[in-house]
Amino acid sequence: MYIDPALDKQFSTERLSALEAQRMAEFIAWGPVLFQVSRLMLKWGIFEMISQSGAGMTITEVAEKAGISEYAAKVLMEASLCSGTLLADAENDRFTLSKTGWFLLNDRRTRININFNHDVNYEGLFRLEESLKEGKPAGLRHFGDWPTVYEGLSQLPEQVQESWFAFDHFYSDESFRQALEIVFARHPKNLLDVGGNTGRWALRCVDFDGQVEVTIMDLPQQLELMRRFTAGKNGAGRIHGYGGNLLDGSTAFPTDRHYDAIWMSQFLDCFAADEIVSILRRAASIMDGESRLYIMETFWDRQKFDTAAFCLTMTSLYFTAIANGNSKMYHSDEMRRLVEQAGLQVEMIHDGLGQGHSIMVCSKPCSM
Ligand SMILES: C[S@@+](CC[C@H](N)C(=O)[O-])C[C@H]1O[C@@H](n2cnc3c(N)ncnc32)[C@H](O)[C@@H]1O
Repeated sequence: MYIDPALDKQFSTERLSALEAQRMAEFIAWGPVLFQVSRLMLKWGIFEMISQSGAGMTITEVAEKAGISEYAAKVLMEASLCSGTLLADAENDRFTLSKTGWFLLNDRRTRININFNHDVNYEGLFRLEESLKEGKPAGLRHFGDWPTVYEGLSQLPEQVQESWFAFDHFYSDESFRQALEIVFARHPKNLLDVGGNTGRWALRCVDFDGQVEVTIMDLPQQLELMRRFTAGKNGAGRIHGYGGNLLDGSTAFPTDRHYDAIWMSQFLDCFAADEIVSILRRAASIMDGESRLYIMETFWDRQKFDTAAFCLTMTSLYFTAIANGNSKMYHSDEMRRLVEQAGLQVEMIHDGLGQGHSIMVCSKPCSM
């Protein structure tokens, strides 16, 4: 295709040349093919065998070692060559791994994202247009007839659950160590973990502090998974459950004790803006001047690297098509506004935890 040199002038603030931009546009056009090719190169161990080979491998050698036809090896490897995950030596027909191929093979986040996108999102994303128009997760239907993915989480096929939890845990687990220091600096006696899922954070809390009592508030079916997961683990006796659907505006926060810390990790991104305000108002109703609400989120505007912001804004579309049809990864200014609408104030924001989490520390103004 002829590329008019004037294009580079017209978009002079962009770093990409017109040729690079055109290649990027084709990457988007062929995105699904590229994705599936790279996924199979990983799944069938081809990237790995090429990486370990040292001198590189020919198509015939790969076909033999991977136990696939020469045709299969050829189409996958030629596509990988032209997409830049493999390099080829024209002298001896040997293929080696490129830097991008190295990341696909060795970067844990990339592997988790690939599995999450294939097992959880791939088929459902076909219904993105419908989901956006209806404000409902139309892509969830092929898994089951639930209004949101959370109601169906415990019934999803095993492989889908595995990829969902790996994705969810990867982002939160890495931040827990630093988060414990922040939350326990105020020595909470009773902590309410809203959307506590399988109890991973609760277990870390009871292990970190020998006195703290933790109540997990989540959907009733989720609490069953939590009880199974925490059973017999250190401090599990200090972990309690409180079931309820927070999308129902009449579901109140527990008042059985004074919760000096309320914890919401990767929880509010499961809700639309008006739902967040409703949930936060109910949280505020059980808070006093001594209570603190900790919102741990991956805000896309507070990332150190562009790639992280890219992953997060892409994740928003999982929420659209699969999770609930109306939530997203938030910009921190947007979350601050919602916190304030609920009558709370943001005291401070800790950034740079684990894989790019921030903790928004919120309190109740004295006048409330
Ligand atoms: C993305 S997970 C976050 C899990 C955990 N806090 C973490 O940081 O890994 C969201 C949690 O919110 C819960 N949740 C979603 N919708 C809910 C609702 N309507 N009412 C109560 N809990 C809900 C889900 O069951 C799930 O455990």
